[in-house]
Amino acid sequence: SASLTGLLPATVFAQNKIVLGFAQVGAESEWRTANTESIKSSAAAAGIDLKFSDAQQKQENQIKAIRSYIAQKVDVIAFSPVVESGWDTVLLEAKAAKIPVVLTDRSVNSKDTSLYVTFMGSDFTEEGRKAGKWLVEKMKDNKGPINIVELQGTVGSAPAIDRKKGFEEIIKADPKFKITRSQTGDFTRAKGKEVMEAFLKADKNINVLYAHNDDMAIGAIQAIEEAGLKPAKDITIISIDAVKGAFEAMIAGKLNVSVECSPLLGPQLMSAVKDIKAGKTLPKRIVTEEGIFPMEVAAKEFPSRKY
Ligand code: AHR
Repeated sequence: SASLTGLLPATVFAQNKIVLGFAQVGAESEWRTANTESIKSSAAAAGIDLKFSDAQQKQENQIKAIRSYIAQKVDVIAFSPVVESGWDTVLLEAKAAKIPVVLTDRSVNSKDTSLYVTFMGSDFTEEGRKAGKWLVEKMKDNKGPINIVELQGTVGSAPAIDRKKGFEEIIKADPKFKITRSQTGDFTRAKGKEVMEAFLKADKNINVLYAHNDDMAIGAIQAIEEAGLKPAKDITIISIDAVKGAFEAMIAGKLNVSVECSPLLGPQLMSAVKDIKAGKTLPKRIVTEEGIFPMEVAAKEFPSRKY
């Protein structure tokens, strides 16, 4: 209470703050930067003491960060696993130390689901399906063949695996669609550009680019322009995230559509952390609600975009 605040030393109150250790994937994309900012600002707003680490897209760094949070005896550990597999050992260590773990954005493929309290984030398979459905509709009057090149996300990551799966599930209904080339661009602009350059050198017959995130699509757009082609016209381009950079590309007429994947998980995470500390039971899965934005609506939607 206000009267007590004046009597007790500040450290007494500092000790009452919930301590959250967050092991981030890296800073590979515009999406990730927005996600980090959301986590940092909502921790501050919720009065949660956040310990934050950036793993530079390396699983070993994330494991090290989680171990250091266990050693520091934080109240809750949250992380966005760079890849799906290989987490059981460190998660068992957290469990043995009785530190609850929350998965945000990406999931793990551990069989033992008692290793984490909840997984909050997007349905990546559904995002892939949305991308596929948009393409099927767009090409409904085109007899084909329609040659698609795919820029995959980080190898072994949940979004790369699931976005591929969801997209293929939809396009396989019509044999006119063919994925002719598929390679990872590691979710970065630089890699997206590099891999697209290689695709264009090897292949004059590309009708569609499906990129697992906007950054790779934006890198690929540069490669397409440098090859003397018109992005979104000569090659139809579909990507995922719907970050501001994608809206700018759509407004400029260079990207056809972006499927939304929201990075704004911070507020949800902080309320989950508080609920866990209050002994409440959380649902095992908290799914983010998302839409899809074709270039025709980009200019109208842009002012209200938050990331
Ligand atoms: O896990 C979410 C994905 O990771 C985003 O789609 C991508 O941009 C990011 O790097």
